Formats: sequence, C-alpha cells, structure tokens
Amino acid sequence: MENRAEKRRIVLVPVTAQGHVTPMMQLGEALQLKGFSITVAQRQFKQISSSLQHVPGFDFVTILESLPQSESKKVGPAEILMKLNKTSEASFKECISQLLLQQGNDIACIIYDKLMYFCEAAAKEFNLPSVIFSSSSATIQVCYSVLSKLNAEKFLTDMKDPEMQDKVLEGLHPLRYRDLPTSGFGPLETLLEMCREVVNTRTASAIIINTANCLESSSLSRLQQELEISVYPLDPLHITASLPGPSLLQEDMSCVGWLNKQKPRSVIYISLGSKAHMETKELLEMAWGLANSNQPFLWVFRPGSILGSNGIESLPEEISKMVSERGYIVKWAPQIEVLGHPAVGGFWSHCGWNSILESISEGVPMICRPFQGEQKLNAMYVESVWRIGIQVGGEVERGGVERDVKRLMMDEEGADMRERALDLKEKLKASVRSGGSSYNASTSCIIRIIRMNT
Ligand code: UDX
Repeated sequence: MENRAEKRRIVLVPVTAQGHVTPMMQLGEALQLKGFSITVAQRQFKQISSSLQHVPGFDFVTILESLPQSESKKVGPAEILMKLNKTSEASFKECISQLLLQQGNDIACIIYDKLMYFCEAAAKEFNLPSVIFSSSSATIQVCYSVLSKLNAEKFLTDMKDPEMQDKVLEGLHPLRYRDLPTSGFGPLETLLEMCREVVNTRTASAIIINTANCLESSSLSRLQQELEISVYPLDPLHITASLPGPSLLQEDMSCVGWLNKQKPRSVIYISLGSKAHMETKELLEMAWGLANSNQPFLWVFRPGSILGSNGIESLPEEISKMVSERGYIVKWAPQIEVLGHPAVGGFWSHCGWNSILESISEGVPMICRPFQGEQKLNAMYVESVWRIGIQVGGEVERGGVERDVKRLMMDEEGADMRERALDLKEKLKASVRSGGSSYNASTSCIIRIIRMNT
C-alpha cells in the first residue's frame, strides 16, 4: 500500500484559523506517514499562516486573496464565507493548474475544509478526486443538513419565540432551539443559505470527520445513511499526531512549572480558545467566583479576548492582584500538555470542538461557557449526552461560578463526571489502536484515496 502511495501528492486546503488548521495538519501528518506527499494550499491570513510554514516536510502554496478587505467588513461571517467561496474559485484553479504542471500531474486528491467548498470547481475542472474534511462534530453536520431543508419562514418565526427555546427541533433530538448553532453568523436567512452551500457535497467522494464512533455514533450513522458518500470518523487525530501542530501564539511553558507545584486534580484550567471574546463584567464575576471557590486556577488571557481591556494589567488593581495571587496567568498555554497534567482537575471552556476532544482525551470534566457558532451544541453534548460537565447559561455571576467550580472539583457529582470522562478517554484510546473504529476508518480512507487513482 505504501509503495503505491509513495509519489502521490495530496493537496490540503484548511481554513486558516487555529481550531480548523490544527486537526487538518494532524491529518496531513497521518497521511504523510502512509507515504503521501503533502501540499498545503492556504489563503494568506493573520499570524497562523506564518506558523503553518513550520510543519516539517509539507510544501506550501498560497491561494491569492481576491475578496477586498473593505468588503469583508461590511457583512456578517456567513456572507463573507459565501463571497469568499465565490471569489476564490478562479485563484484556486490557477493554483492547482500550476501544481499539476510542476508535479507532473501527480495529485492523488484534494482534501478541503468543509467551509472551503470553492475547491470543488477546480477538482471538477481537472478531474481530480476530492474529499471533504470537517474539523468539527458529526452532529453539526447533521444539524446543517436539517437547517438547510427547513421552511425558512417558519424557522425564523420559531427562533424569535422565547417559548420555543426549550423545545426540541424536529429531526434533531436531543437538540433544542436554544442549542442550535445560529449565533455569530449574521442574519439567520444568510446562515440557512450558508448551510445549504456547506452540506452540498458536490462531486466529493468522501467526508473525513474529526470525531469518533464512541462520541457520536448516532449522528455518524445518520450521516452515513443520508450522504451518498463515505463517512470516515478519524478522531482523535491529536492522539496519534507526533507534532502539536501550528500555534496561533507562542505557548508559555512556565505554567507547567507552576502546575508541578499544585496538588493532584486541584487546578481548574480556563481557556476560551482562539476566537471567543468575553465582556469585562463577566470576567470580573468569574474572577470573584473563582477566588471564593478557593480552587487554584490556570487562566489563558489571550490578547484581545477581553472586550474593552488590554489584559489582566488593565483590570481594577484588587482583581489583578487577587487573580495573580491565587492563579497563574498566561497568554497562550500548551493546552494538550496542561490538560494531561495530573494537577488539572477541571476545564472551564468555551467548548470549541478541539478543546472538547482534548479534554475528553485526558479524562478531564468541564465547565461549559459557550459563546457562539456550534459551541452551544457542543456544550449540550458535554452536559446532557456524555454527562461530563456543567453548562453555565445566562449571565455569569460570582455565586454561580463558585457553586459550579465546587460542584465540579469537590462534590460527588463532579467525581461522577470525571469517572465518565475517564471512561470516554479509554474508549477514545481504544478507537485509535489496531482494530479500533478510528484505526479501521483511517485504513479504509487511505485505501479509498489510493483506489480513486487506479
Ligand atoms: C473554532 C470553533 O470553536 C471550533 O468548534 C471549530 O471546530 C473550529 O473553530 P476555536 O474557537 O479556536 O475553534 O476552539 P477549539 O476548537 O477549541 O480550538 C482551539 C485550539 O487552540 C485547541 O486545539 C487548543 O489546544 C489550542 N489552544 C487554545 C492552545 O494550544 N493554547 C491555548 O492557550 C488555547
């Protein structure tokens, strides 16, 4: 198998944002180990692009940006995404045409992030196989599919009705209206249009999803039945990867020294991932709640993540003093290492999909404070499906924070959540071992890619 793949090249097209690019680079590494050469075609975008270039053994090409900056400021994210897909078609075709010339037609397949569906036009034009990659859950894919088929008018009315918020949306049990991934995209009508674009698999022959059977078996079987292409759940990619992947910011390793001095399972780790923003008022309530809980904490204050503040230094003195005395602050943490540290007993998370997978892989229970997109849906899974965490809803206030931290870190209820998280950790580990579900999916996927070219 490896010999036949030896000179074959796979073109990866990630979304150049931390939560998307990391799992795709880990997929690239797994494919490289099977004998494929990897070319990453990326849009020029923020800092992540330059840190990407350090992935050893990969080649990089740039898809020239044709959406004017001024244009992207005027509209919401769903509309930007759709415009980008329209305006990137031609430059990506040019990119593939150049690569084919340079590589002597040696492209086995294009694997693109599901949001970068402009790639399909080039795949079709050059008669190349294509595979979709989803860095988020299988359930979000099911959700997009249901949303894309809804009667838009009725859905928009239902969404505005407060009484509908706790109702389960038909076809999406157990998701309620309030769990739907609708915030942060701009107008709902545009989001529904975006869902229609994203679920259309066009000429792709398979979809790889960063998930595992033990986490989302029913969503995976539903997708397998609904889509006319193969579905490969390949998670946890980060467990099998030898490299941590490109990082948005420099990881502050000093926190590991601080963790070494803490008692086992005593520390709550707090991080909002790479994009979420918190109001200063919420931060203050969190800080007081944490202080009153008496649990030590490791807090990632990503630059720009606190609205209206330049970081911990610009907070009222008594807060910054208290936070620095009882906790440890970093701008960016080595998250996987932190979650695997014996001192860490809980994770306060914005519920990005990668953070959830990383937490489960270390058996760490969570406090979920979702912000936007599919984070609410992920939080619902943590709290109600896997029962490994607590969701903080509504306004954050110090009494609630103190209560939730104590529930997770000290109460029997938290111990039960940890036990379930540890059980899932074992199942995830088993899934990547020889004969496990992710291992088998990965083997089938590679055989499929090879056969696409024979
Ligand atoms: C977003 C969405 O929230 C996510 O659900 C989607 O799948 C991708 O886009 P993001 O908000 O960045 O991603 O969150 P998440 O998916 O959790 O990814 C964050 C990544 O940054 C994780 O891999 C985490 O390990 C890493 N990280 C975060 C660090 O390495 N250090 C930190 O201090 C914080």
